[in-house]
Amino acid sequence: MKLELFQLQKEALTAVETSLEATALKEIRIRYLGKEGAISRLSEGMRHLSKEERPIMGKLLNELRLSFTQALEAKESHFRELADAAAFSSLDTTLPGITSLRGSMHPLTILTDRAVQIFRRLGFAIAQGPDIETQWHCFDALNTPEHHPARNDQDTFYLPDGRLLRTHTSTIQIRAMENAAPPLRIIAPGSAYRRDEVDATHLAQFTQMEGLYVAEGVSLADLKGTLEFFFREFFGPETECRFRPHFFPFTEPSYEIDVRSCSLNGKWMELAGCGMVDPAVFEAISKRRGDAAYDPEGVSGFAFGFGLDRLVMSLTGIADIRMLTENDLRFLQRFIS
Ligand code: DAH
Repeated sequence: MKLELFQLQKEALTAVETSLEATALKEIRIRYLGKEGAISRLSEGMRHLSKEERPIMGKLLNELRLSFTQALEAKESHFRELADAAAFSSLDTTLPGITSLRGSMHPLTILTDRAVQIFRRLGFAIAQGPDIETQWHCFDALNTPEHHPARNDQDTFYLPDGRLLRTHTSTIQIRAMENAAPPLRIIAPGSAYRRDEVDATHLAQFTQMEGLYVAEGVSLADLKGTLEFFFREFFGPETECRFRPHFFPFTEPSYEIDVRSCSLNGKWMELAGCGMVDPAVFEAISKRRGDAAYDPEGVSGFAFGFGLDRLVMSLTGIADIRMLTENDLRFLQRFIS
């Protein structure tokens, strides 16, 4: 049996050495190490040996198995290396690579984020609300009377069930007050919709940002200080603000804010609406909530809202507002940072 073993060892090692490719090695592995393979058969034969012979032959058999597996694995890795080298040699590293396309933020998103960051530093939290709204949230609660032109269906997209696409983001201040008691400080970016004839300066969908601060003793000075701070942070320290008296049903007094800044070409630009929350709004909220959290005798607040589309237009110098929704890559790629 010893002789048989040595012969097998020689034969197996020669087979490995003379093999020319990886598939041949696989066959050799099965031929010797497989269940029915020669080495396995030999260890089966051990059963018939005497007690004295068994350990000696066992040792030799183990050595055979070890030397054979080592030779086999060495040859296998040799073939693997050859295959890798062949694959690499056909690879031309001087060819131009495939670059992956880098996405970018839409300019409206960039500006919204910048504005939100500034208000967050002042303690404002982000609030959201649905684009499809009830008339109560969009008009009634905001002290907008039945006959007000903004409610006209020539201006507003009504759904058959009487709900509508919100015409401004001021709906979100109502929802925020319904859901939380003061002190309340929120900033709410979102889309608004009006039936405008679409042209170079009008879209039927636009982006607004709404803000609300309600607490005990909030004053017009707080409103002015907060918004002046915001616009200086947003446009630069040399920015000037002008508060022009105006009318909004939901604030009293109300103002429009004009801003002049180098980043807006040094021209006055009408940017935002704002004012002190009208007591009628607090009363509507109190009725809804059924508590005295928003009793106008106890709390006061300011609110403001501004559109972001016109801002993007003047900051980027585009003359046609439709660029903001057309997804033209030549425009959008300007904002890859
Ligand atoms: N909602 C107004 C608009 O769309 C802007 C506005 C004005 C919002 C005054 C307010 C506000 O919250 O207090 O033109």
